Amino acid sequence: MTRWNEDVDEVQAVSPDITDETNALPAKYFTDPDVWEMEKEKVFSRYWVYAGHENCIPDAGDYFTRTVGDKQVIVARDEDGDVRAFYNVCAHRGSKMVADTPMTDPGNMGRIQCPYHLWTYDLDGDLRSTPRSFEEASLNPDLDDSDVAGLDPDENGLLEVRTDSIGPLVFLNFADDPPLSLAEQAGKLKTRLESLPLEEYQHARRYVSEVACNWKTFGGNYSECDHCQANHQDWITGIQLDESALEVNDYHWVLHYTHEEDVEDELRIHDEHEAQFHYFWPNFTVNMYGTADGYGTYIVDPIDEERFQLIADYYFAEPELTEAEEEFVRTSRQLQEEDFELVERQYEGLRSGALGQGQLGPNEHTLHRFHRLAQEAYNA
Ligand code: FES
Ligand SMILES: [Fe+2]
Repeated sequence: MTRWNEDVDEVQAVSPDITDETNALPAKYFTDPDVWEMEKEKVFSRYWVYAGHENCIPDAGDYFTRTVGDKQVIVARDEDGDVRAFYNVCAHRGSKMVADTPMTDPGNMGRIQCPYHLWTYDLDGDLRSTPRSFEEASLNPDLDDSDVAGLDPDENGLLEVRTDSIGPLVFLNFADDPPLSLAEQAGKLKTRLESLPLEEYQHARRYVSEVACNWKTFGGNYSECDHCQANHQDWITGIQLDESALEVNDYHWVLHYTHEEDVEDELRIHDEHEAQFHYFWPNFTVNMYGTADGYGTYIVDPIDEERFQLIADYYFAEPELTEAEEEFVRTSRQLQEEDFELVERQYEGLRSGALGQGQLGPNEHTLHRFHRLAQEAYNA
């Protein structure tokens, strides 16, 4: 392992470099724009990525959009009550159809209509109607109206994207032939979450923040708590990190820790006083708190190789928060801001090019799993 880039611009290929437990993914994989281009295909178009929460679209025609890399989908509830996803791209000449619509402010539509030439689609994606200008050839001297063939609604429909769910959490997969089912990718996380009444909780709060570092840098920070004692002074009070454990699974890893205080809650997947923070490859987390009757999720959305957006959502029994819940969310937000400072500072260091490859400690085996998954994806 070459640690410092002493006049060496090139780093080794990933494979031989990180087979050892202490080896991080080489720094270049966090800073190189070509790696981000590769990730759009090899990571975000192959694995299951979180789309959103289906409680936010309870009725037929409710929808939100979700952008993953260069791709955007419309996630909508159809007339049969099923949640489906379509590329937000018109089958006529490719226009984007609906405006960006976050899950927290969903839209409703009876049909999906493209504003460019008004092709109109049913909520199952079939082409429903086109204007007269597509049924007649009045402006074309080479054609009679009778030469104009009608358009097959099914053949000219929207391109659907595969979806699957864990409880109310909807996931997408852009691959024609996904390497894993959602159940295979989620493993034990699916069983755990499905045993809980997650759908009974309502979306209560969202924070969106743009952060100046690579998405994997934040993913790594979330995955270990060796930095907590030194950097989360307020939060650390009342937490017993010495009783914490890090559990590593195939595509997710979990930080368990215990609290002095506890609340009675329905989401008791864990022992009393215990919290569980799950990181689910590639960019989603599920946060089961030990001191609030609610749960949270993070979406760690890359913007490019040097910026990501953190979307933090909170779910409680009621969308109107009690004073204690408000305080809980404030503390959680403070934690995020402390972490943003850490990862931005780390990223400045990584970007300098001085470090070829980081060295992981014995309690950073979760990060090693994360980096190995990245390596596996790049090599696939
Ligand atoms: S591009 Fe959508 S109707 Fe023409
Ligand atoms: Fe942190």
